Amino acid sequence: MSDNRYVEIANLTKAYPNPFGQDVAVVKDFNLILRKGEVVSVIGHSGCGKSTVLTMLAGLNPISSGSLVVDGREVAGPGPDRAVVFQAPCLLPWMTTFENVMLGVKQVYPHGTPAERRQICEYYLSIVGLADSMRKYPREMSGGMQQRVGIARAIALRPRMLLLDEPFGRLDSLTRMDLQDVILEILDREKITTVVITHDVDEAIYMADRVCMMTNGPEASVGQVLEIPFERPRIRADVLDHPNYYDFRACLLSFLEKQEHNKSSHVEAFEERQRQERELQTSASDRQLETEPASV
Ligand SMILES: Nc1ncnc2c1ncn2[C@@H]1O[C@H](COP(=O)(O)OP(=O)(O)OP(=O)(O)O)[C@@H](O)[C@H]1O
Ligand SMILES: [Mg+2]
Repeated sequence: MSDNRYVEIANLTKAYPNPFGQDVAVVKDFNLILRKGEVVSVIGHSGCGKSTVLTMLAGLNPISSGSLVVDGREVAGPGPDRAVVFQAPCLLPWMTTFENVMLGVKQVYPHGTPAERRQICEYYLSIVGLADSMRKYPREMSGGMQQRVGIARAIALRPRMLLLDEPFGRLDSLTRMDLQDVILEILDREKITTVVITHDVDEAIYMADRVCMMTNGPEASVGQVLEIPFERPRIRADVLDHPNYYDFRACLLSFLEKQEHNKSSHVEAFEERQRQERELQTSASDRQLETEPASV
């Protein structure tokens, strides 16, 4: 498998039925290729289909058509090779930090000795800054600390891909910046191919090698992809001082504004097409009824 096409998302489409029984493609013909170790952020307006793409990549949401290939293999369901971190860490409340991480580690290292598994948990919890909180329960920790556990739990699986769905969305801006750096440090060390979904243009630029901008749904797809050629490891002050930083920011903001501006005409055109399809279907079934012989 070529490292240049580590993840291949080709014509990915997801449709849900509407109240008239018609299929509505939330995402349609979404195309993106990720190199091994690349970090791509996905940005787009709320409801455009970002989480839909991510859950399909995670194998948690069946695709309607197209294809999803990771490291030469079609995605056929969830697996520890693709770890996911959601906005809320979803920790088991009756387990300690350590036990929450151990839960996944046991599955991924079934033949490891208890001591080896313990070392893995301790290592990843210390990387996210929780060396002193391993015996704490989720209720004893702040939102930021809980999210750190979620990150440790995901990384401890040693995944080939990391899928982050607005992982810092609920956190204050200082904790958010702190955790961005925690993740970037891990990614620099472990070179995990990563998709990070975000609403935040600064986060999208700071974290990623490329930013994928999604058009508004229905039938959302990749509108534009922006290369972020800043050096790694990223140093926040240097990134903010970079002469191109504000051009990149302006590019993302202008794309998002354009999407917002065209929103109502896009939705109206889509609804009109669906109405026409319904009319065609109704008249076709009327014609069929007229030509069918009456039953006795
Ligand atoms: N199970 C479902 N059945 C029907 N429609 C769905 C389902 N899941 C999602 N949708 C619709 O798909 C669209 C995309 O949803 P998705 O959650 O992927 O958006 P998003 O870009 O992640 O939004 P946000 O930024 O608010 O998290 C939305 O219009 C949503 O209503
Ligand atoms: Mg979402």
